[in-house]
Amino acid sequence: MIKVLFVCLGNICRSPLAEAVFNKKIALAGMQSQFKADSAGTSDFHIGELPDERTISCAKKYNLTIKHRGRQVHRTDFRDFHYIIAMDDSNFRNLDQLKDRFGFPEKEIHLMRDFVEETKGLSVPDPYYGGEEAFEEIYHILDGAIENFLNRVIVTHQLYA
Ligand code: 4NP
Repeated sequence: MIKVLFVCLGNICRSPLAEAVFNKKIALAGMQSQFKADSAGTSDFHIGELPDERTISCAKKYNLTIKHRGRQVHRTDFRDFHYIIAMDDSNFRNLDQLKDRFGFPEKEIHLMRDFVEETKGLSVPDPYYGGEEAFEEIYHILDGAIENFLNRVIVTHQLYA
């Protein structure tokens, strides 16, 4: 079972949407039993909360199932997840510091848009202060990057449906 953790700041917009996009793709691929996805925030701003209502609307529009409550990244996440994927540079730097502090200095942290050759180093923009179009934009960014990520993992681990 390959475990994947998506991480943003608040864990109510980007990372729960990423988790939902990923879950739909593995369901379509018939690979649900081979993966476990979760999401978390680097901050403690929204612990226990449902995703932002705009995240929920976006998920509905694209037929994604969202079932998540906000939580903060925990020490054991660095031990338990095979892939930890940050949405932006700030989350990436925070995770990179946390992994050292929590005793997992060898753990690799990934940046979401690095999975698309043309967008390496770029962030999934924070949609929190944006409108509906900001969520539309991040949905499309996530869909493309996660498609590539999943394909890469399937090849790396030689997975079959
Ligand atoms: P997220 O978006 O990191 O994609 O969940 C945000 C959610 C909340 C806040 C910032 C970004 N906030 O400042 O509360």
